[in-house]
Amino acid sequence: MSKRKKLKMGAVLDGLGWNHMAWQHPEMPADASESIDFYVQQAQLTEAAKFDTLFLVDVSHVGPGNIPHYLSMFEGVSIMSALSMKTKNIGLSATIASSYGDPYSAARQILSLDKISKGRASLNAITSNPGGMVNFSRGHLGKEDQYPMNKEFMEILIGLWDTYEEYAFIRDKARGIYLDHRKMHTLNYRGEYFSVDGPLNLSRSVQGRPVLYTAGTSEKFIEHATSYTDGAFTHGETLEATVAVAGRIRKKLAEKGRKSEDFIIAISQNPIVGRTDKEALEKYMELLSLRPRNSLPTPLFFGSAKTVADQVQLWYESGAMDMFMIRQDHPHGQRDFMELVVPILQERGIFRTEYEADTLRGNLEIPKPAFRKVSAG
Ligand SMILES: Cc1cc2nc3c(=O)[nH]c(=O)nc-3n(C[C@H](O)[C@H](O)[C@H](O)COP(=O)(O)O)c2cc1C
Repeated sequence: MSKRKKLKMGAVLDGLGWNHMAWQHPEMPADASESIDFYVQQAQLTEAAKFDTLFLVDVSHVGPGNIPHYLSMFEGVSIMSALSMKTKNIGLSATIASSYGDPYSAARQILSLDKISKGRASLNAITSNPGGMVNFSRGHLGKEDQYPMNKEFMEILIGLWDTYEEYAFIRDKARGIYLDHRKMHTLNYRGEYFSVDGPLNLSRSVQGRPVLYTAGTSEKFIEHATSYTDGAFTHGETLEATVAVAGRIRKKLAEKGRKSEDFIIAISQNPIVGRTDKEALEKYMELLSLRPRNSLPTPLFFGSAKTVADQVQLWYESGAMDMFMIRQDHPHGQRDFMELVVPILQERGIFRTEYEADTLRGNLEIPKPAFRKVSAG
């Protein structure tokens, strides 16, 4: 049996969490979703804890029932670019919906982020819900279009990221040779939804290509993830349900001849941790008291640092996840996890104490993809 990789960890930077009340907590800046100072503080805290990646989920339109802080929030690639200059090792992941975004622009933005950060970028290319299409001149499209669009989007992204082979740019001043033209390839992609000639105007990434994820739980999502991406962001209501989703993903990877250790299955949870179980319960009650008419589900990862570390270890060893991403409902949820739980996981040898590599792929222990010629160009 191959050696089990260490647990990977990410922090989802939607500061106020997926809840209606955290913005009212006295210790939470109510404008966190549009505060650069807040993002920088969280990013640096997360990097100090040696996490693999920062991860931004996204809601790119105002819709019914939006939680308050999603009414005014930064766009993901912009904020990740800013954070790239305030961090050194940690991965930077933005989310772009293939139903809304343009694949040429997304390929260019994320590869630029990758170069700005020297090989730390990734993209979560989700379908999202069709509600936002009206903001992107796609009001005529609906749910049934989303997966076919997602497939084309992924194929174009990967194709454009393979525009230039390695060492394509010679930039020899004396001989006046800028580019080895044989190493530049045109995509010429024709789809039902997207039509892109290429080439992309950016050279190859030091990590081969930026890391690509998608998110979901359905069979179609699994089909796309296992065909195109390096990882999947998924979800289950319980440990058993999450192990089952992860099992379906790994089975499909094997059917396609891919190794599960080269693929990252990520989940996210909002742990509430205290020095004792009682302290964790107090933090949870504090949140509930803010806005009683909006309930907050009891967190699955909940209690003293040891209790939560045991839960993380159990989920990891049960195969529910390769990467554990933490969000926060409590204003100090992520800090508490990093200060109290991470040292226990490090002591148990489950999580790293130092970054192993300079690139995101290196730290995730997934291979650097070889150049693939995808066109006749
Ligand atoms: C773990 C997870 C994370 C997601 N993150 C986002 C997100 O950040 N923004 C968004 O608009 N949709 C997000 N989605 C929704 C998906 O893009 C998709 O619309 C949904 O999963 C339905 O697809 P499925 O039934 O094929 O899984 C997420 C879904 C899951 C399961």
